[in-house]
Amino acid sequence: MESRNKTPVARLWELAFTYKILIIFACIFSILSAISAFLPFIAVYFIIYELIISLSTHSALNVELIINYGWLAFIAATATMLLDFIALCFSHIAAFRTLYRLKYNFVRYVSYLPLGFHSQHASGELRKIVDDDIEKIEKFIAHQLPDIVGSFASPVAILVILAIFDWRLGLATLVPVILAYVVLISGYHRKEIKTNMQEFQKRLVDMSNTSVEYIRGIAVVKAFNQTFFSFKRFYDAIKAYQIYCLKFTYCFKNHMAFFLLILNNIYLFILPVIIFLCGYVDNYANFILSAVFYLIFSVALPVPFLKLMYVTRGLQQTAESLTNMDNVLNTPCLVEPESGFEADQYDVCFDDVSFSYEQDPNQQLVAIDQQATSSAEKDNSKVTNAINHISFTAKQGKITALVGLSGSGKSTISLLIPRFFDPNQGKITIGGVDIKQMKNDYLLSLVSFVFQDVFMFKQTILDNIKVGKTDASLEEVITAAKAAQCHEFIETLPNGYYSIIGSQGLHLSGGEMQRLAIARAILKNSPILILDEATSFADPENEYKIQLALKALMKDKTVIMIAHRLSTIKDADQIIVLDKGNIVEKGLHQQLIDNGGYYYRMWQFYQQTLDWQMNQSTMEATTDAGNNLHQHEVSHV
Ligand SMILES: Nc1ncnc2c1ncn2[C@@H]1O[C@H](COP(=O)(O)OP(=O)(O)OP(=O)(O)O)[C@@H](O)[C@H]1O
Ligand SMILES: [Mg+2]
Repeated sequence: MESRNKTPVARLWELAFTYKILIIFACIFSILSAISAFLPFIAVYFIIYELIISLSTHSALNVELIINYGWLAFIAATATMLLDFIALCFSHIAAFRTLYRLKYNFVRYVSYLPLGFHSQHASGELRKIVDDDIEKIEKFIAHQLPDIVGSFASPVAILVILAIFDWRLGLATLVPVILAYVVLISGYHRKEIKTNMQEFQKRLVDMSNTSVEYIRGIAVVKAFNQTFFSFKRFYDAIKAYQIYCLKFTYCFKNHMAFFLLILNNIYLFILPVIIFLCGYVDNYANFILSAVFYLIFSVALPVPFLKLMYVTRGLQQTAESLTNMDNVLNTPCLVEPESGFEADQYDVCFDDVSFSYEQDPNQQLVAIDQQATSSAEKDNSKVTNAINHISFTAKQGKITALVGLSGSGKSTISLLIPRFFDPNQGKITIGGVDIKQMKNDYLLSLVSFVFQDVFMFKQTILDNIKVGKTDASLEEVITAAKAAQCHEFIETLPNGYYSIIGSQGLHLSGGEMQRLAIARAILKNSPILILDEATSFADPENEYKIQLALKALMKDKTVIMIAHRLSTIKDADQIIVLDKGNIVEKGLHQQLIDNGGYYYRMWQFYQQTLDWQMNQSTMEATTDAGNNLHQHEVSHV
């Protein structure tokens, strides 16, 4: 990883030689296979030689010798395949080991990147790197690398063979090969072709991103009847890809056509030389023999050169894939100290913290040292902060509630605690220790999160709850599920805790998923608990039960609770009121009501909403007995 600043091609070679012994063996067998590929032609040459000599001297044909040459040709052709097979075996073992390492390291590294990185890179881009780019590197090592080595060995063998038989005809054979390569390389160096090639690659990435976005957002697309517009974006991306693919192909077509034309018709260059030289030779028999050999050989000649062309193009594409991968690997992950500090109590303290999403995540990461911090602050004068100069302490054993209108910065504050993002200014401490001075794993072990948007893996319910504590026993999971009020509904599923979410029609409701997420947090049982709209999907009856479960869970913990239903946070030990990223009020519910400020107005508004709900339900009660639930909710306020 440390040598990622080398050129892409140099990096590729370095990567390819990770498993040196295997690759060296692959190269040796590939060279032997390339050399052996020419032996049948030489054997055929000697067979023709025998025929011509015996005809011209009227001597008996040495049949045994001819048969031996025949066997030599057969054995050499078989050996060529066998040696190639052995070379590929070695190269594939090396390639799959490298593939495993690269994918494992890449995915692991991506998981250490700050969340900011993911909000700025489409998931399709990362998918393309894992699925396509890294696979290309595997293909390069498995197939192209032995081919390159073999293809370089072939010209050397050819040169030797050409020089041995008749250097003049050898030269006549080499001229078209050189000419073909001049045509090809001049094509690669045309600015137009280079630009189109780059655009073509960009459009490929765009097409991949748009397809992922389209499929992931299909529910929204259908719900809002946006099929046409959304599909159009996808269609446009494919169209743009097609345009640049064609542009690149059209630009290159003349070069490619001439290259293939010359290489596949080398005999057209040899024939005039043969005719010309006929007037100057003494030994016709020998000369005709050489001429026949070169004409036969000219058929075999293009194969290694064509291979060489494809592998050099493959080399270029693989180098680009490697650059894509390295670009992500060069993104600095969260800076953590060599040996981290640990907290002995868990008060969470925000000290003059400001944060904006509108910046390069790299920049916020560099902001660890003093100098960078001041320059980042300067830059931030131009961007809108999601939160501004936030200072408060959430005490251990107490509940701190964050309230405010949508977009006021509540979730942002909670995301800064486990360092999903680093603030641009100010400091966050846990038990007096700066969170930047803690090891990431330790910090994450301190915090349990119940997110606003719950994410479930396509795994069993058991595994999904065990995300909170991977070594938990079934009994522990059941206890947590009971506390989170989800045991009952899990039991009703055909496979209970072993039902796989998302398969065989098992789709959970928002409330059910939220309760599973709470079970995760209960199981993790960490000292800091962040509940971001943890019960927003719960119906009143379940919310009441979950609140009871949470009460037990919250004991002695630092709890940060975000809720739009103000009834949920009314009894909090501290209520922090936010407006547009600023703290506008702080205090207990009654104090804030007495103040008659922002919170009071929010409370009034909330009450009106409830009254309105109650009136609605009273009106509908005559026709719908189920509306008792609304009254139930009011009774909890
Ligand atoms: N990933 C993001 N990238 C850029 N801006 C963001 C991102 N997430 C939130 N914001 C912006 O930051 C501000 C605060 O958002 P935040 O999610 O913290 O609000 P909130 O108080 O939790 O709102 P809600 O009650 O709707 O959940 C908003 O202006 C929002 O647009
Ligand atoms: Mg939020």
